[in-house]
Amino acid sequence: MSISRFTAQGFRCLGTIGFEPDSDYTLIYGANASGKTSLLEALAYLGRGKSFRGAPPTNLIQHGAHEFVLFGQIEIWGRQVRVGVRNSRAGLEAKVDGDSSGGAAALAAALPLQVIDPDVHNLVSGGPDERRRFLDWLAFHVEPEYLALWRQFRRALKQRNAALKGNGSRESLAAWDTEFCRLGERVDGVRKAVLEAALETLQAHGSGLLGADIDFRYASGWSKDSSLREALEQHLERDCVLGTTQVGPHRADLRLIYDERQARRLVSRGQQKLLASAMVLAATDIAQTVLERPLLLLLDDPAAELDRVSLGRLMGQVAELGSQVIATSLERDESLFPAAPRVFHVEQGELRAAARGGPRPVRNTPDRP
Ligand SMILES: Nc1ncnc2c1ncn2[C@@H]1O[C@H](COP(=O)(O)OP(=O)(O)O)[C@@H](O)[C@H]1O
Ligand SMILES: [Mg+2]
Repeated sequence: MSISRFTAQGFRCLGTIGFEPDSDYTLIYGANASGKTSLLEALAYLGRGKSFRGAPPTNLIQHGAHEFVLFGQIEIWGRQVRVGVRNSRAGLEAKVDGDSSGGAAALAAALPLQVIDPDVHNLVSGGPDERRRFLDWLAFHVEPEYLALWRQFRRALKQRNAALKGNGSRESLAAWDTEFCRLGERVDGVRKAVLEAALETLQAHGSGLLGADIDFRYASGWSKDSSLREALEQHLERDCVLGTTQVGPHRADLRLIYDERQARRLVSRGQQKLLASAMVLAATDIAQTVLERPLLLLLDDPAAELDRVSLGRLMGQVAELGSQVIATSLERDESLFPAAPRVFHVEQGELRAAARGGPRPVRNTPDRP
């Protein structure tokens, strides 16, 4: 699978742009604020129906425009799939081959992708939310029924919280408790199974990039000595006071386990980025095995925070995955890739194909007429 054509209109600082990425390696280079991140964000939006930076869609619509429109042609097993997104103040419209019934989930199925950007370290240094999302992303790809289950659980959580806030009777709270526990235990079970299946790959990528052992442990979001039902009962008083559910899979974490020496190294932003990148690459690896096709891997300024050796290791692991890679850099640095990439230059939101073989050498002698 690869995205063979992409166009964007009205997205952040980008002009009306169109380009044809290489099926292996594409490099987008340009100065600060030229539009590199915007371009990757637009590509990611086409595969997720939302920003990877968590930016609200209204911030992504170009100043002065009323909507943005993205389009991609994706080759899947020799078949051309057309994917489009239109986002106006009225909301998101997502189409896959003209069908708009599937929403963002249909986008993700057509263009599964992962992103490594300069904020990726948050996966390691930030709170549990990002790690939970990471594990859920894996679960969505490994367990086809997980998405529906997860949505049902979210609904039960919302209803239980509404009942706690006094919008329902004690009986309705008890009814939502039963539903919440039934679905919550299942969400918990799938996540544990997914982590167990992913563990070896996560460890291998982690030690490959950091040169040290890293382990991963799932924390359910309630005391492991009790059932979810018992934990809910123990927290009922507090839940009623706060009006929200304090325990459950929505409070789970994917804990990273490492020794003291490693902990000292992981104070460094560069090391955090390496570990987080290892997790993203492991997830990409697993999803590619399950889907039996390469993913799109977007690397925004991979060189940021990394020394040359670490960057080399990271790009070496990226190359081994065989994903379709689109990376950005400040300078035209083709040595990031093991094979010549297709190169584009971005300047003030405009994208141009760069001449093959790098910038032309300066001539000392004038051309003959
Ligand atoms: N909604 C928007 N409309 C127009 N320009 C925007 C919008 N949002 C951000 N920008 C501009 O886009 C530019 C940043 O582009 P970005 O893709 O982050 O650059 P780079 O990654 O190359 O440093 C900034 O100049 C910013 O002001
Ligand atoms: Mg940027």
